[in-house]
Amino acid sequence: MKKIDKTVLITGGCGFIGSHLVRLFVTKYPTYKIVNLDAMTYAGNQDNLNDVEKEENYVYVHGSICDKHLVDKLFKMYDFDYVIHMAAESHVDRSMTNPTVFVDTNVMGTINLLNFVRKYWAEGNKERRFFNMITDEIFGSLSIDDPPFDENTPIDPHSPYSTSKAAQYLFGKTYFESYGLPIISLCCGNAIGGYQYLEKLVPLTIDRLINKQEIPIYGEGKQMRDWTNVHDICNAIDILVHDGSVGEMYCIGGDACITNIDLVKMIIREYCVLTNNKVVEYEKLIKFIVDPRGKSHDFRYDLNHDKITNELGWMPKYTVKESVHETVEWYLENTEWCEALKKRDNSYDNWVMSHYGAKLKEKK
Ligand code: TYD
Repeated sequence: MKKIDKTVLITGGCGFIGSHLVRLFVTKYPTYKIVNLDAMTYAGNQDNLNDVEKEENYVYVHGSICDKHLVDKLFKMYDFDYVIHMAAESHVDRSMTNPTVFVDTNVMGTINLLNFVRKYWAEGNKERRFFNMITDEIFGSLSIDDPPFDENTPIDPHSPYSTSKAAQYLFGKTYFESYGLPIISLCCGNAIGGYQYLEKLVPLTIDRLINKQEIPIYGEGKQMRDWTNVHDICNAIDILVHDGSVGEMYCIGGDACITNIDLVKMIIREYCVLTNNKVVEYEKLIKFIVDPRGKSHDFRYDLNHDKITNELGWMPKYTVKESVHETVEWYLENTEWCEALKKRDNSYDNWVMSHYGAKLKEKK
């Protein structure tokens, strides 16, 4: 057993980005004890961490960030050096049908963690950090000609999800200003990579290609998103937790702002190359549907990462094409992961039925 010199709480470590981060920290820092607190909601998946669950510097705790008694117990027990707060409800479309759960988790859950940070970190000379994972969606929407968002862009969220994340960010900032807590925030754009729950655009598209099912595109697919590889995101978090300045927000992006339809076509091309299929056949699966987000659908997200690049040397290492290649390959190699997720409970099928319903034919 190696000597432990830091203890780290990662919340939401069984989710998409959270699981990549747990893996990075458990393997890169054998002298850190990584405590993963995850409520295992529909988007959490213990299969995401099969490869690290037996590592001696890893502990999994099943529970909610809203549970005062549990969070208190963990802070007392582990005397955390770093809290990396990744747990969140993160799907815009779900937030439009059930906003309250977004306030419960993203706002009340964050405040609960911050209150224990305040209680336990008031004294002592340890160099502690609370990392607050935010999203570019708090800035609202850009038009085609606007410069990308940066750390000085005014906050202007448009969905229950982004409003809850804006509140999460502001509470972190307030706890820094009011109580001097060592908070660092990161705003990042859309993440791409393996282990993402199937209902988001990229895994949904790949899974439906594998099953030869229609691929739903909202409206005409002209909205634009800045795609960042999940490994680049975890690398930024690693840098910020160790070297970021407290009280600061940082933005990262993948320099990869493209329309949804171009992204989906890129995924289809990559899928066909990897599976030796004809692109024209698979492009026929694209189905334009009435936009469920209506007028509130943000047109463009794009981020300027100059601050973190100039101050801390972070740069995205993956182009969007490389990310698409890696991600399509991952889902093709992990069809069992996808099928296990669908079989685990009915939450994915229920979501597809309730959200897309008759808009999609299920089998071609
Ligand atoms: P999503 O992955 O849900 O992320 P976000 O809304 O946070 O950007 O969606 C990415 C984009 O893809 C967004 O503009 C909505 C669009 N989209 C579709 O066109 N079809 C779909 O089935 C989904 C889930 C999303």
